[in-house]
Amino acid sequence: MEETRVAFIGAGGNASGHMKRVKEVDGATIVAICDVAEDRAQAAAAEMGASAWYADHHALLDKEDFDALYISVPPFAHTDAEILAAQKGAALFVEKPVVLDMEKGIEILEVIEKAGVVSCVGYQLRYLDAAQRVKQYLSDKTVAMVSHHRWGGLPGTAWWRVMEQSGGQLVEQTTHGVDMMRYVLGDIVEVYAKYATRTMADVENLTIPDSQEVLLEFDTGALGLVSTACMGGGKSDMSFLLRDGTLEFGYTNYKISPDPGGEYAEPLAETASIDDVFIEAVRAKDQSKILSSYRDGLKTCDVTLAANRSATLNRPVRPYFADNY
Ligand SMILES: NC(=O)c1ccc[n+]([C@@H]2O[C@H](COP(=O)([O-])OP(=O)(O)OC[C@H]3O[C@@H](n4cnc5c(N)ncnc54)[C@H](O)[C@@H]3O)[C@@H](O)[C@H]2O)c1
Repeated sequence: MEETRVAFIGAGGNASGHMKRVKEVDGATIVAICDVAEDRAQAAAAEMGASAWYADHHALLDKEDFDALYISVPPFAHTDAEILAAQKGAALFVEKPVVLDMEKGIEILEVIEKAGVVSCVGYQLRYLDAAQRVKQYLSDKTVAMVSHHRWGGLPGTAWWRVMEQSGGQLVEQTTHGVDMMRYVLGDIVEVYAKYATRTMADVENLTIPDSQEVLLEFDTGALGLVSTACMGGGKSDMSFLLRDGTLEFGYTNYKISPDPGGEYAEPLAETASIDDVFIEAVRAKDQSKILSSYRDGLKTCDVTLAANRSATLNRPVRPYFADNY
């Protein structure tokens, strides 16, 4: 089997999980790792057996030859790595949220699509068997409404708490729920958001809202509601409403009422890791098994950035992709 050479930009908590899985893939080798925190790049390279490490991604992109590049940096740090790597012909695995600025996202998208390289965004929930079955079950039904709660805690990561660096919880974290809604129900054409800081004004260096409520309109006419908060207290759910029925989606499980039985009563299957799917796609130079391309990842990001705009303007707004492409 021909060796697949993989490089990483960003060697933080999330990247280390991808590195461990890539290292397990037959015929895949991690050749180089970059992190602005030099000691982290060096330690990860030693652990993964990578022959080179860098503190500046330009040096990695200049000097190294690789087939695929993972970019797992904080949201504010997406600059030119995607563009330079795609121009070199490398496949890209980009972590969500792919950008904080749509102009930059469109610039990156155009280069990726012109270069024709394989691209994948880290929306791994799409690969879950429960997600596949929910998508299939709803594909021929009229969904009236969907609602999603993500009420969780505040991560310790410093950049997460700063609006200009993370984009806030909806953009950074609850993007997974928005992506799942888009995956199942299709494009979103209007967004109306209200944000508040209700209980956490005393938290040092916190500039993101602690409470976010977002109303969505899908292209099909379905309505959606996303409620997200980071003050502690746990609630995580997603419910789809049909005429005379509901579907509760819990990522690793789901419940359809009334129970349709048949194939939906079968136990859930194991899910392939997104890293396995990506490396296979890189080898085959075939995008078809990747469930979230850069374009798709950017479309989800677009909806969440539109929500930020809506909350600032205090009126409904249309995401960029509702009127372009
Ligand atoms: N798909 C998922 O489920 C999932 C889960 C966790 C995190 N993520 C995403 O992964 C990304 C990274 O998150 P994390 O939790 O690993 O954060 P982290 O803070 O642990 O790691 C980020 C790393 O990037 C490095 N970095 C920053 N700017 C850089 C640059 N210009 N060049 C090279 N390195 C740079 C930092 O030094 C740090 O080591 C975020 O976008 C996050 O949303 C995705």
